Amino acid sequence: MTDNSFFPVKPEIAATAHVNADAYARMYEQSVKDPEGFWGEQGKRLDWIKPYSKVKDVNFHDDVHIRWFHDGTLNVSANCIDRHLATRGDQTAILFEGDDPGVSKAITYRELHEKVSRLANVLKKNGVKKGDRVTIYLPMIPEAAYAMLACTRIGAIHSIVFGGFSPDSLKDRIVDCDSHFVITSDEGLRGGRKVPLKANADKAVAGAPMVKHVLVVKHTGGDVAWTAGRDLWYHEEMESVSADCPPEEMSAEDPLFILYTSGSTGKPKGVLHTTGGYLVYASMTHQYVFDYKDGEVYWCTADVGWVTGHSYIVYGPLANGATTLMFEGIPTYPDVLRFWQVIDKHKVNIFYTAPTAIRSLMREGEGPVKKTSRASLRVLGSVGEPINPEAWMWYYNVVGDARCPIVDTWWQTETGGILITPLVGAIGQKPGSATKPFFGVQPVVVDNEGQILEGETEGNLCIADAWPGMMRTVYGDHERFVQTYFSTFPGKYFTGDGCRRDADGYYWITGRVDDVINVSGHRMGTAEVESALVAHPKVAEAAVVGYPHDLKGQGIYAYVTLNAGEAPTEELRKELVAWVRKEIGPIASPDLIQWAPGLPKTRSGKIMRRILRKIAANEHDSLGDTSTLADPGVVTDLIDNRMNNA
Ligand code: WTA
Repeated sequence: MTDNSFFPVKPEIAATAHVNADAYARMYEQSVKDPEGFWGEQGKRLDWIKPYSKVKDVNFHDDVHIRWFHDGTLNVSANCIDRHLATRGDQTAILFEGDDPGVSKAITYRELHEKVSRLANVLKKNGVKKGDRVTIYLPMIPEAAYAMLACTRIGAIHSIVFGGFSPDSLKDRIVDCDSHFVITSDEGLRGGRKVPLKANADKAVAGAPMVKHVLVVKHTGGDVAWTAGRDLWYHEEMESVSADCPPEEMSAEDPLFILYTSGSTGKPKGVLHTTGGYLVYASMTHQYVFDYKDGEVYWCTADVGWVTGHSYIVYGPLANGATTLMFEGIPTYPDVLRFWQVIDKHKVNIFYTAPTAIRSLMREGEGPVKKTSRASLRVLGSVGEPINPEAWMWYYNVVGDARCPIVDTWWQTETGGILITPLVGAIGQKPGSATKPFFGVQPVVVDNEGQILEGETEGNLCIADAWPGMMRTVYGDHERFVQTYFSTFPGKYFTGDGCRRDADGYYWITGRVDDVINVSGHRMGTAEVESALVAHPKVAEAAVVGYPHDLKGQGIYAYVTLNAGEAPTEELRKELVAWVRKEIGPIASPDLIQWAPGLPKTRSGKIMRRILRKIAANEHDSLGDTSTLADPGVVTDLIDNRMNNA
């Protein structure tokens, strides 16, 4: 199923790019042979308060620890804002495009400085101190970036929770990191529809007694309930403080943020990133991967609730003094021209989106795209899931008019920044392949026994050594960090992804090899959906797997066993979908629910998901070994009653 097309680097692109093929080869070699020298040099892209003398202190084996630049000190907001003021105070830092196409706003670096300083003082005034956790539950509005940067200014650790998560999910994340301060807005706005963020936050905080204050941005002006003493209006607080807030001196290894992400077991874990290494890596990858040049307009369509929004809407671009576009809306509102119109309206040069968005717009044909110019575009990017070659070709030919290289960037919440990707001036592209490793990244492919596989091969993707942007621990649970990432293949970071390496050394990510599914580029643990389903009073047991879905990449397929005496009705099916939405959030809604009188289990009672995945994918002929099943009849029933994708 390999697509053999190859898109070599165009000479005119190589001629002006930050990195051409020769430079890539030279720099890559140095980065893996002499990481201290390489990163010691690259670290200088930031302004340090106290320069580092140590570069790398890493152990992936026993006593797992990761430290970079650890005797240096710096402040992230000073690097993203203050240091640009002298040269680009009046340049637009954030270009806000609202859900409503009539709403947009440009925020200069000088204005950003004022807002962030004030908000930092608001946090201080209300008792937030260095090292405290602040939970941010905001829509895609500039205040989300102000909030992140204000935390970094005073050394507080932010934890952003995506606005699509339910009150319960929000509560769990507040409680897990013992956060005393929450920032939200009255409502969010997406595709013309209101999202009741404050009401959700109220429900969450009812179960999180540690929360002392909820700061509320007035965004839509919708009615909200108010708890006097606890709730604070953002606009009132901002007026009550000074616009001067000196940035706090932070150690390179002080925590910067926590971001919860799904794993194969248990509740989402708090991925912890720290200050110096993360920012060096976010800034460097943003500049080199997108070949970002001074003065360009850069647009990443992610949400700040995901890691892509952290590294490539806020931290990377702002550290580089870029103009970064923040879009509140969705690709299809008011209609399917929206992305392309925004590109023309703001003369976007670099555009970074997800395959699921491309596939949904591709469905509409070329017509809408061709109504727009897109002449400003220079580089296109893709992230979040494997991009199928058909979508790649459409993105390249229709959106980019066969002019713009595509960077298919593979990375994870845990990696902090992009690890495998083309560099536009250095690495030719093959549709569907994330291509080659970024500087300092040493991918290794291993078999299930952990043997390293050489040359053209397929297996589990691990990374042999550390890079500055990687996570440092699971917040509050270092043992879980070691177990999850360093125990399957001892001494290596295990990504949870499978991959193929072709004869040219190009990497093709084949998807997760664990019980994590990727729905429209959103990570979801099957265990989370299962535990939501079994929490329903009528459900006895549930097993959830991913299955191929045309638009979403993967859909959520749930096998549900009801309690004795419960009737499997269409009504109950709908009720269960609504239940999961309420428990976790809309992104976790099952696409298909199959009633399962029994689940295929081994004699020791373990559910055989491998078989459930095959049935969901309609691959009944290749079920594999079923001899260990306690009751083979269960499988026949499941196959006979498989749900069809509507
Ligand atoms: C998948 C998102 C193929 C992968 C930045 C990974 C990709 C998971 C790509 C991380 C890509 C991300 N090609 N697969 N270009 N980018 N993935 O933590 O399975 O939300 O492990 O980070 O998304 O998802 P996360």
